[in-house]
Amino acid sequence: MRISIASDHAGFEQKQQLTQYLRDKGYDVADLGPENDDRVDYPDFAEAVARSVADDSSRFGVLVCGTGIGMAIAANKVHGIRAANVINPQFAELAREHNDANVVALSGRFIDIETNKLILDAFLNTQFGEGRHAGRVQKINCIES
Ligand code: RB5
Repeated sequence: MRISIASDHAGFEQKQQLTQYLRDKGYDVADLGPENDDRVDYPDFAEAVARSVADDSSRFGVLVCGTGIGMAIAANKVHGIRAANVINPQFAELAREHNDANVVALSGRFIDIETNKLILDAFLNTQFGEGRHAGRVQKINCIES
């Protein structure tokens, strides 16, 4: 499974660690930058990851900034993206099961790396629940169009 990942300067260190973590687990990870922790603007990286998911180059996207909030807001501007700012593993499961989230936005400043690894595990290993949730996600899609 291919996963796109990116960060800004605030999420850079965790982005590096999470990229390696996912590769060690056998995922095909496309690191869309940045290459160092120089100051950058998070919307540029959110857009790159969101577009790679929207055009099916990747199945899921992972974004890391200071809070995850800006990344989620920016990624959700791309058609077809359901980005969730997730701060614990239970939210990760629910973002997949109820919302069919396809991008997870993480905090590199307020959530520790071990928790973010658990969040990724939960996000990547939980299926969409379908059923009653499918109609609600369809209504989200209708808002877009
Ligand atoms: C950068 O200072 C910070 O604003 C960014 O990483 C992120 O937290 C925005 O939502």
